[in-house]
Amino acid sequence: MTRPALILRTDPYKVDLPVIRKAAGVIRSGGLVAFPTETVYGLGANALDGEAVSRLFEVKMRALDDPVIIHISDITGLKALVREVPPLARRLAERFWPGPLTMVLARSEIVPDIVTAGLDTVAVRMPSSEVARAVITEAALPVAAPSANMFGRVSPTSAGDVLEELDGRIDMIIDAGRTEIGIESTVVDVTSAVPKVLRPGGVGIEELSEALGAEVALEKDTNILRRSPGAGSRHYSPSCGLIVVEEGPEQVSKVLEAFKDYSADGLSVGILSTEEHAYLFPEKAVCVLGPAGEGGLCARRLYSALRELDRDGHDIIIAEAVSSEGLGLAVMNRLYKAAGLSS
Ligand code: TXA
Ligand code: MG
Repeated sequence: MTRPALILRTDPYKVDLPVIRKAAGVIRSGGLVAFPTETVYGLGANALDGEAVSRLFEVKMRALDDPVIIHISDITGLKALVREVPPLARRLAERFWPGPLTMVLARSEIVPDIVTAGLDTVAVRMPSSEVARAVITEAALPVAAPSANMFGRVSPTSAGDVLEELDGRIDMIIDAGRTEIGIESTVVDVTSAVPKVLRPGGVGIEELSEALGAEVALEKDTNILRRSPGAGSRHYSPSCGLIVVEEGPEQVSKVLEAFKDYSADGLSVGILSTEEHAYLFPEKAVCVLGPAGEGGLCARRLYSALRELDRDGHDIIIAEAVSSEGLGLAVMNRLYKAAGLSS
């Protein structure tokens, strides 16, 4: 496909039905539509149509062993996709759906193999974005939707970002402005009695623990994470290199030292700075992420800040670590991944 994508706008809260219907029609006939969710923009296809999903992989140049998330707009849509809904999953759905939580469950027969990359499980999420929900409801189908970016790159948080990534390769984009959360959903495996977070995201791990009245752990077993390849290292990456400078009393001096060293080597250096420290760094190099202790604000800014720094054509980005509380955990996870390190 080389023709430009059709771009239609809607208000994020008061959806424009003709726009939604157009998108739903494209999905129903096997096409690909980028639409906003509360986390990031997704690239949607009919989840029950193996060919349409296969095109999703082609367009993103996504590795075939990386399964995609199926999006539903109503809890009744879950039953057909999974073999069972364990009590744990029920509780999490009641508390966090619609919202930025993806649950990995035992898959049913109707889910095409390509969606799950041949795994025995399927990832399902019910987004809270009005636009996303309306598209799924109007399509009257479960919608497979990975983030609308080329594989391994920074996820899009605006229609402009989607265009930058995928123009000429998809049928349609719904533009409803910038996404609210700015970072992907939390992926939690609920196939066993002890839930495991495969990817930190829009729901904090503390919130999950509180809802379940038990400690919830971040999966560290690399054999399991390999089956959830988005969780692998070197993902969510800008085109240039990135290093992370940990929090602590020496954070500022370490950033300045690294800045001086790389600059002396003739490299163009960008600094992804906390709000608190921004005034201490060379103004031309700085891009502000947010207050170090406000994970939600940092999450909202992260991907657009990385894109801005990328556009400035730097050879390397020095990123200040922020607090890992709440959504800060997801922010740090993505920064480590962008740096090619596993967190
Ligand atoms: O917020 C989000 O989750 C966004 C929006 C569009 O909903 N979607 C998104 O999709 O981030 P994607 O494809 O970029 O990431 C899906 C993640 C990957 O890490 C993938 O490995 C994991 O979900 N995943 C999907 N199915 C899985 C399964 N059956 N078992 C384990 N992990 C799975
Ligand atoms: Mg992605």
